[in-house]
Amino acid sequence: MKIKSAEFVMSNSDVAKCPKDKLPEYAFIGRSNVGKSSLINMLMQRKNLAKTSGRPGKTQLINHFLINKTWFLVDLPGYGYARVSKSSKRVFQKFITQYFAKREQLVLAFVLIDCRHEPQKVDLEFMQWMGENQVPFCIVFTKEDKVKPNALKRNIETYTQKMLETWEEMPRYFVTSSSNTTGRDELLNYIGEVNLEII
Ligand code: GTP
Ligand code: MG
Repeated sequence: MKIKSAEFVMSNSDVAKCPKDKLPEYAFIGRSNVGKSSLINMLMQRKNLAKTSGRPGKTQLINHFLINKTWFLVDLPGYGYARVSKSSKRVFQKFITQYFAKREQLVLAFVLIDCRHEPQKVDLEFMQWMGENQVPFCIVFTKEDKVKPNALKRNIETYTQKMLETWEEMPRYFVTSSSNTTGRDELLNYIGEVNLEII
């Protein structure tokens, strides 16, 4: 897919105030610092469309970007850095879960996972929550430039095994790097294909 335009539309913390347009929407979610905002900039070939930072917690709101005047990309705050008591499982920032539970325009989410790490409980629990709430998602492994090909392969195999403990199949996944643009065509073409199916 060719990107002809990418415009910031609005930020807010209330799903009820998100754009009313009935356009297909794709959201990027994952732990703080996993590279959601960087990935959006890489896909759009724009340095500062979405705000990024080396410190976790940069994105604090639901941010809508209108792409090619026909679909929305959504940058969300990260989960996983909020202090939650040991006993309370599955506590994600409320407006994030409200966004996924209520946003009718959402076609699918991309759950970003840092490809360097072992499967993390918070990500597995988040995907579990998405499954229970029937929100379709793909996995995007980020920061591919930080690992050697063999380690990448091993980590994805480990991740797949872990997912298969609770899921019938491994969700569709992509491997990306915002530093060297790995995965850009695959991800954009996939969104293009899905758009064609639903428009
Ligand atoms: P929050 O908004 O805080 O939830 O974080 P985020 O997921 O939006 O992460 P962000 O895009 O701000 O990136 C976090 C850090 O990771 C920044 O220092 C980025 O430069 C770095 N980073 C993101 N993607 C990549 C990548 O593909 N490769 C490398 N090497 N660094 C990356
Ligand atoms: Mg961000």
